[in-house]
Amino acid sequence: MKVLVVGSGGREHALLWALKKSPILTGLYVTPGRPAMGNFGILVDINLKNPIDVTQFCKRENIELVIIGPEQPIIDGLADNLVAEGINVFAPSQAAAKLEASKSFAKGLCKQYGVPTAKYECFVDEGLAKNFVLSNKIKFPLVVKANGIAAGKGVIICNTENEACAAIDSMLVEKKFGESGEEVVIEEFLVGEEVSFFALVDGLKVVTLGCAKDYKRANENNEGQNTGGMGSYSSSSIISKDMEQKIIQRIIYPTIQALNNMGTPYKGVLFAGLMICKDSPKLLEYNVRFGDPEIQSILPRLGENCDLLNLMLSVAEGKLNTKAVELSSKATVCVVVASKGYPGDYQTGEVIKGLNKIENIPGILVFHAGTKLDESGNLVSDGGRVLNIVGEGSSVEEAKSKVYSALNFLEWPGGFFRYDIGS
Ligand code: AMP
Ligand code: GLY
Repeated sequence: MKVLVVGSGGREHALLWALKKSPILTGLYVTPGRPAMGNFGILVDINLKNPIDVTQFCKRENIELVIIGPEQPIIDGLADNLVAEGINVFAPSQAAAKLEASKSFAKGLCKQYGVPTAKYECFVDEGLAKNFVLSNKIKFPLVVKANGIAAGKGVIICNTENEACAAIDSMLVEKKFGESGEEVVIEEFLVGEEVSFFALVDGLKVVTLGCAKDYKRANENNEGQNTGGMGSYSSSSIISKDMEQKIIQRIIYPTIQALNNMGTPYKGVLFAGLMICKDSPKLLEYNVRFGDPEIQSILPRLGENCDLLNLMLSVAEGKLNTKAVELSSKATVCVVVASKGYPGDYQTGEVIKGLNKIENIPGILVFHAGTKLDESGNLVSDGGRVLNIVGEGSSVEEAKSKVYSALNFLEWPGGFFRYDIGS
């Protein structure tokens, strides 16, 4: 089977690595990809903004499955275009992707179907939003969110009325978030333990893929700015089987049911950002794709007999027939190496050395998120999040110690990483 992966981050590199093991794979392509991904897939340049280019490529190359990594092409409706041409896609339709594209849509669904989530109200009018904040119906701290996608920057935790009003102004008046901020969600601040939970959904059936913890802040001890994720870990001890059942029964099933009732069934991976509050899971947000860097720590735990390609194909075809995805008992820790300055301004084009030593260490995997080759053929930095180094071990502690020992071999003064991933 020939497969096309869309994307160019560490998430897509990890997907290529896992798909490459499949006995049913005959050809693997990636667009746009990165040079370092060339050992797993053939890099192709396709204009993703023009869906006809994508469908034409798939028809010409007899691609039987397209896997879309990032949210933007999913939200733009790429899956719909491909499905209309009879091509199997692992990604939801534009209508189902509203779960991520519109927080007010996702929250409305939660309210209607009784999915536990933070108490909230939505506003398009600045005055009404501020009156709501001043009414004290939601206690401080409270959270002001831009309705649309905002690269992790559209969530502002506010401790005072002034902060909340400034957050509302930044979205509804100053339009700092563009269209994404034309509506705001004001919600209760939830206290608990945050978990990224992944479910494979084929329209009707649901299978848990596992969960991971993400480290969103730039610096140790969860200080500094919010980022796309500075690291992750995955192990069988993050949540209990009982909690997994609660998440499926109270959050995932009702959501899938709701989308079916709306006539827009969900296919692909459903990523629930959850807060485990005491013994109850509550939904923070939905994403319609794999988490990055969460999936880099989950995929290495897939059991030897689990063929990821077969699993993804069965999701796309609506024929998911496994009861559970087998994950090994080993633990994994993924450390993101970023350009100094990220998530603010940073340099690119800096030479990175030492990766061949790191890649040769048993139990270590290297995924590229933002690298390229310069004119002389040197590997150089080319983004904010640049590398993902994953360590495996029999415990999170062991995986953590392995990954940080490996990072000693990295020669890139312009890069930084958090020292507490897995703590
Ligand atoms: P989101 O983009 O909605 O996942 O929000 C980004 C981050 O903000 C989440 O990962 C949480 O750490 C935090 N956050 C969002 N909503 C809430 C909430 N209602 N209570 C507490 N923390 C939140
Ligand atoms: N790491 C969080 C995300 O992928 O949205």
